[in-house]
Amino acid sequence: MDSSKSEYAEKLCNVRGLIIYKDFAKNWDNVEAFQARPDDLLIATYPKSGTTWVSEIVDLIYKEGNVEKCKEDVIFNRIPFLECKNEEHFDGIKQLENMASPRIVKTHLPPEYLPVSFWEKNCKMIYLCRNVKDVAVSYYYFHLMVPAHPNPGTFPEFVEKFMNGEVPYGSWYKHVKSWWEKSKSPNILFLFYEDMHEDIRKEVIKVIHFLGREPSEELVETIVNHTSFQEMKNNPTTNYTAIPDEFMNQKVSPFMRKVLSYIWPPSSLSNQFCRGIKHCIQLRSG
Ligand code: A3P
Repeated sequence: MDSSKSEYAEKLCNVRGLIIYKDFAKNWDNVEAFQARPDDLLIATYPKSGTTWVSEIVDLIYKEGNVEKCKEDVIFNRIPFLECKNEEHFDGIKQLENMASPRIVKTHLPPEYLPVSFWEKNCKMIYLCRNVKDVAVSYYYFHLMVPAHPNPGTFPEFVEKFMNGEVPYGSWYKHVKSWWEKSKSPNILFLFYEDMHEDIRKEVIKVIHFLGREPSEELVETIVNHTSFQEMKNNPTTNYTAIPDEFMNQKVSPFMRKVLSYIWPPSSLSNQFCRGIKHCIQLRSG
């Protein structure tokens, strides 16, 4: 292992095979013991896959299209990040325990590491998958702007670690494959960021149906408008500017960098991309 690699790894922790931030690892017993409630909705993603985007959509559905209600608080208070823990500032579990039902819970955990209570309580879950190339680029910039991360080195150096699954939350391939397999259950909705990019209306309606609600024209229209890239980038409750620079330095790189300048892959996402993903994850995850 070269020195930049070991320096990178030293800043992280390995909890039962999962690479994670040291502060999160210290809280692992509480994560495992977390008590889900039957009406919890879990939003699971590999980091940088559009978690905030789908979270805002879901919260608007829960709040019946009331944009002002969503703007009353920042997204990381409305939808706590389960395993997030930092000595003084962040405690996802505490937030969730103090929250009234129905709760929306964010996690980046692979399904094998999810607190068992989510499975026991048969909670609904949404998994959002984004293509690996854009995830890798976004994750690289995220490393630069969030000081809790080890120095990612150059982009090629980071890509090597990413491809080897040596980054927080491990291998993208294994993560996606595991959740893909879980999504055979009717309680899990598997979405693609690229499908949302291509036809947001269709995906929003899919989510509304999954949550057992009626997709009225007005609700869908409100969600599509309020969760556009520009709207969310300009909205202080969704663009993470409420987080101090010491935790997320947007002078280094904004949380929402830019909207895709291309569609990847080019067309018929649901079929082509699913086949591509399946092929890719079979090849990579062994
Ligand atoms: P980029 O870094 O490529 O800009 P997460 O919420 O999982 O951390 O993902 C963040 C990524 O989702 C960022 O990608 C961000 O720009 C993108 N994103 C957030 N809201 C979005 C929206 N409304 N439309 C498209 N992409 C969005």
